[in-house]
Amino acid sequence: YAQKTATVTLSNDSKDTISRHIYGQFAEHLGRGIYGGFWVDKSLPVQKQDRIRLDVVNALKKIKIPNLRWPGGCFADEYHWRDGIGPRDKRPKMVNTNWGGVVEDNSFGTHEFLQLCDLLGTAPYVSANVGSGTVEEMSKWVEYLNFDGASPLTRERAVNGHAKPYNVEFFGVGNESWGCGGNMTPEYYAGEYRRYSTYARNYPNAKLKKIASGANAGDYNWTEVLMKNIGARNMWGVSLHYYTLPTNNWSKKGPATGFGEKEYFATLKNSLKMEELVEKHSAIMDKYDPKKRVALVVDEWGVWTDVEPGTNPGFLYQQNSLRDALVAGTTLNIFNNHCDRVKMAELAQCVNVLQALILTDKEKMILTPTYHVFDMYKAHQDAQYLPFKLNSPDYEVDGEKIPAVNVSASKDKAGKVHITLVNLDAKNSISVSAELKGIVWKAVKGQVLTSPGVSDVNTFVKPSVISPKLFSNIKKDGDKLVVNMPAKSIVALELN
Ligand code: AHR
Repeated sequence: YAQKTATVTLSNDSKDTISRHIYGQFAEHLGRGIYGGFWVDKSLPVQKQDRIRLDVVNALKKIKIPNLRWPGGCFADEYHWRDGIGPRDKRPKMVNTNWGGVVEDNSFGTHEFLQLCDLLGTAPYVSANVGSGTVEEMSKWVEYLNFDGASPLTRERAVNGHAKPYNVEFFGVGNESWGCGGNMTPEYYAGEYRRYSTYARNYPNAKLKKIASGANAGDYNWTEVLMKNIGARNMWGVSLHYYTLPTNNWSKKGPATGFGEKEYFATLKNSLKMEELVEKHSAIMDKYDPKKRVALVVDEWGVWTDVEPGTNPGFLYQQNSLRDALVAGTTLNIFNNHCDRVKMAELAQCVNVLQALILTDKEKMILTPTYHVFDMYKAHQDAQYLPFKLNSPDYEVDGEKIPAVNVSASKDKAGKVHITLVNLDAKNSISVSAELKGIVWKAVKGQVLTSPGVSDVNTFVKPSVISPKLFSNIKKDGDKLVVNMPAKSIVALELN
């Protein structure tokens, strides 16, 4: 038996910043994401402001979520914002046709979302309706949100409790316009984007950062046409959606728990595809936008499994295991390492939906392993990116191989260096030797996230099976740092 080893050589010579917006979140009107997740019945015995649950808010504040995307997803393209303002008992109801065919009572609308963002201290990212909405409807929503003068709409906003403009910046023009957002061709959508976005006005102190509805995974032609036909000057960002399935089969995705090493390996392999996607979409963007003005916004990513047995298939409720945490750690490393182009990303989704940070059961709440990854990585937000060279051993299952180790690193404004390392190998510990060129440090401290089984989860009965622990298996070897990473683990280091 030979100890597996990896080497990393870090340097200090990049001017790129890891935008905090890479650590964004997504909250759609879907299942128990909004209703039961953020917005609860008055009678629920949890601390609330209005009907917003504060246990969830406080947990998310701790990991400093930088932005929250709302109201969808597919829901955004059948959402009519006027239905969600004014006295709640008078708001019209609608059917949520995308997600379970349930009745949406519109009690959580524009004001409630912006109140939530205010409580979270996070930037709102509003995704507006192109698929079934009108140019006028979108234009008026922007005026209602952001205009600082006297108009019928701003008077209405004041009557509804908010005289001041909200100054929303991040603004999505449609969602998945190639699919649930209208089944458009890229040429048709690019034309629609130009028309809709013309009337989504910039008001004083509220310049919109407009985000075009981007490609589905490896649809490179979509990005090409958008870059060519919309043009870099006419958008702040273009999005990309990619979900990791344990299988590659949308009708049998694989379970969220109780899987073995084969399924674990297949999921990791699929998640690593993100690197190729980001690189290939970026290369197309570079052709039209060599100065990298346009952000690649990965505004939906994460693990998508079969729903928990016995739950509504339209609610996308799934458990969250150590495997998902390793996918999150790996994906965030990929985004950090491409921070020259990836300036924003949103995990799907924040509470009770898909790869959630938080799960709730009435008044109970648990933090998932993925939540802890965002906690361990938050030091990278707005820090200077540190480039590196990595030599990783392979992790091999049934003759297939992936790199066992991945990494990213940054230096914060106080000069502290943060390194986040992932060991995907389910069986072997790996000794990582890190050389830090031009980086002076005296002390190091670490945290580790791991568990005996890759499919281990936190439950309402045992909420802390997986949580970060102090990590001390670190040695200074001359100028080098030697980190002995346990199998299937994430290690976050802080060097001072
Ligand atoms: O996140 C769930 C759904 O996945 C979103 O509504 C949609 O945009 C995507 O297909």
